[in-house]
Amino acid sequence: MASHFVLLGMLVAIYCSVALASDPSPLQDLCVADRTASVLINGFACKNPKLVQADDFFFSGLHLQGNTSNPVGSKVTPVTVAQIPGLNTLGISLVRLDFAPWGVNPPHTHPRATEILTVVEGRLEVGFVTSNPENRLITTILEKGDVFVFPEGLVHFQRNTGNVSAVAIAGLSSQSPGVITIGNAVFGSNPEIPDDLLAKAFQVDAKTVNMIQSKF
Ligand SMILES: *[C@@H]1O[C@H](CO)[C@@H](O)[C@H](O)[C@H]1NC(C)=O
Ligand SMILES: *[C@@H]1O[C@H](CO)[C@@H](O)[C@H](O)[C@H]1NC(C)=O
Repeated sequence: MASHFVLLGMLVAIYCSVALASDPSPLQDLCVADRTASVLINGFACKNPKLVQADDFFFSGLHLQGNTSNPVGSKVTPVTVAQIPGLNTLGISLVRLDFAPWGVNPPHTHPRATEILTVVEGRLEVGFVTSNPENRLITTILEKGDVFVFPEGLVHFQRNTGNVSAVAIAGLSSQSPGVITIGNAVFGSNPEIPDDLLAKAFQVDAKTVNMIQSKF
């Protein structure tokens, strides 16, 4: 009986550690990333707090339109710990998304963050897909001022369904959300995933796999 409780406790501990997995809470007021530090930790080592300046928490440029002249017709401008060293340990970041008319931000996932997005110009079709086995698509149309949430880790996308440019701003619950674009990761990996493996996985022939790989 006691061993059952031990097992239950372990399962609860494992479940909690998974369910609560996100950026760890800070243990001090600030820990501005010291990019010159050679020590490798989860995140970045802290710069000497006495040397911290307003600039460490500052970024300028989100008023600038992203260049959407690319095959998908969208551009993400990130403001993560890579742009603002003061975000280190704070578990939050921001992006600007620009869309050409009918531009797409292709299906992708952020391995470390939930995303909350608002449309500031235009109209966006948005959606995410729940995990196996349901794989339910949850999708809607957002007008200017509307807000939508993409839960952590789930595959999601946006598309401009208008004839004018669209702009969105999104917050993410990680200093470094990461992004895995499904097409690039699966068909554009370096080195390539074997053709015959992808052919079986996607139930198509190797020629089709090669054709898709050539696009990435
Ligand atoms: C936008 O990107 C395209 C393709 O890379 C490039 O040819 C063009 O010069 C860029 N436009 C601006 C304004 O930077
Ligand atoms: C978008 O442009 C197309 C082609 O010019 C037109 O047929 C359509 O009505 C336009 N849609 C909107 C929503 O303006």
